[in-house]
Amino acid sequence: MEIYRKSLGFKVFRSMSKILSSKDIIDKNVKNLIEKCQNLTKSGLRPKLEVILVGSNSASELYIKNKRRMCELVGAQFNLTKLKENVSQEDFLYAINKMNNDSSITGCFVQLPIPKHLSHINVTQLINPQKDVDGFHSENIIKLYNNNPSLISCTPKGIVNLLKNYKIEVEGKNVVIIGRGFIVGKPLALLLQNLNATVTICHSKTKDIKSYTRNCDIIICAIGKANFIDKSFLGKNQILIDVGINKTKDGKFCGDINFNDVKDHVQAVTPVPGGVGPMTVYSLIENLIEATDNILQKR
Ligand code: GUN
Repeated sequence: MEIYRKSLGFKVFRSMSKILSSKDIIDKNVKNLIEKCQNLTKSGLRPKLEVILVGSNSASELYIKNKRRMCELVGAQFNLTKLKENVSQEDFLYAINKMNNDSSITGCFVQLPIPKHLSHINVTQLINPQKDVDGFHSENIIKLYNNNPSLISCTPKGIVNLLKNYKIEVEGKNVVIIGRGFIVGKPLALLLQNLNATVTICHSKTKDIKSYTRNCDIIICAIGKANFIDKSFLGKNQILIDVGINKTKDGKFCGDINFNDVKDHVQAVTPVPGGVGPMTVYSLIENLIEATDNILQKR
């Protein structure tokens, strides 16, 4: 961010990028979720999140731990069903069905990825769409497509919430999303178009990605490649959003954006950790509250 100061007749320009941290946003807004959770509980339906995890995967376990913590913070119930890595297809489908039909559970998902022997199953379509806090079920994606969303995919929802909290306007802006996955890239493109942004999706087969990233207002990177974006990708005065969580050789976490390389050349950038990740977890709990409320209204 260019800060312009006039002192003693001299114009002083100082280059300083803004760090788009999520901590203050969550601290400021979590009270609201706690209150909503209390009201739903008083009305007779306490929000309850159920997660199915197949096998052991350290990244998945970390994500689930963060989701459990946020449930505890807002006063929602949480339960994790752990299935063995070699669980049979029959037992896996039975567990999903049980979760879908348990009336005490108001939000649920299967943590992805699942083991290879189950990967032919289109899990996202098996989740009860009313309880689909991930927002991956086609019923919920169609609502997003029609600009009438109910349960919006968590990372896209978290990114838009973060931008809104920092008063970064997206209407009329050129946004480049790098990554076309169904968890982030695709639903994020829909959400931003609904907000009147002009969206370009780049991916592994895009020729000359830099020609897109240098000529846009906002770059959102979700490709899962450590430090992929450096200053050679940049144009002027841009906002950078980093969705990546990658582990380096020395066991530290880093994003898809080389933070230290870009930080003095952008208007604003999200850190990793402490940027998009916590916003995603926050959105999941917002969806849990929304799903619980919808279920209660229909009773
Ligand atoms: N694995 C990585 N991210 C996600 C997510 O948002 N939802 C689910 N269900 N699994 C994931």
